Amino acid sequence: MTTEQNIEDIIKGRYDACAERGGGEGAVCCAGETPAGPSFAAEHGLYSQQELSLVPETAFTLSRGCGNPTGFADLQLGETVVDLGCGAGIDVVLAAHKVGAGGKVVGVDFSAHMIERARQTVAEAGLTEMTGFVVSGLGRVELADGVADVVISNCVINLCPDKEAVYREAFRILKPGGRLAISDIVYAGKIDSEVRKRFQSTWAGCVGGAIEEDRYFQIVQDAGFGAVEFVARHPLEPAELEGMACCPGPEFTPVPAREDIASVEGKVISIKFRASKRRVP
Ligand SMILES: C[S@@+](CC[C@H](N)C(=O)[O-])C[C@H]1O[C@@H](n2cnc3c(N)ncnc32)[C@H](O)[C@@H]1O
Repeated sequence: MTTEQNIEDIIKGRYDACAERGGGEGAVCCAGETPAGPSFAAEHGLYSQQELSLVPETAFTLSRGCGNPTGFADLQLGETVVDLGCGAGIDVVLAAHKVGAGGKVVGVDFSAHMIERARQTVAEAGLTEMTGFVVSGLGRVELADGVADVVISNCVINLCPDKEAVYREAFRILKPGGRLAISDIVYAGKIDSEVRKRFQSTWAGCVGGAIEEDRYFQIVQDAGFGAVEFVARHPLEPAELEGMACCPGPEFTPVPAREDIASVEGKVISIKFRASKRRVP
């Protein structure tokens, strides 16, 4: 039986292996090295060339995002940012540049190997002093209540079986009035139940754990967030969808059948949104 615990163990194993092998050789999600060439991420509007010039190669090669949350989080000097599922640290580096020496950025990820890479990344970028890392699942993170001004996350929450717990935790670690800036993957429209079961049976990349958009935003609101504001929303193009369906790469995650991928074309949506923690009395 597939339980939440063994789904998490499977996902962690994939990202650990990917980090250990420095990214592997195949096509990957949206960002990073792809058959389309290293500038794919920039060309697809995830990161500008100027932003990429700030990011050490390890973090870029291991980047597996579907957006650029620091690009729309409106980060201010001196703020504290927590990156849920930071991977090898691409957004930690970009956030650190935005909040400056008086700010702080904490990356959280359950893959110890990814965190090891992220530590290398910030060391190379000369940002060790103002960054910190926690190896942890996102359902319960060892951070105090109300520490963060902003929580960011890039293509991670779709992978989490218990999305309610992740958003409750984001709420807990944010200050009252704190902000969320999230890139993620959801479904729009009806997905054939058999296809869905097949995606779920291998927790296929970033589509196996995706849920319907309405339900997703109900979870965000139920956790206590308001003022939800879309920054962008687009159906994944066929090439993006193929990469996403076996993220972090085909040598780590079984590739779903071509017909199954084709059957969800236009229904797998990349979302980027902001929201804020409603002030609690
Ligand atoms: C698709 S990658 C994105 C990494 C990074 N945000 C980026 O943009 O490159 C997903 C990351 O989330 C982490 N992750 C997935 N599920 C997690 C969970 N339940 N708890 C903590 N980390 C998780 C993985 O280890 C991986 O590093």
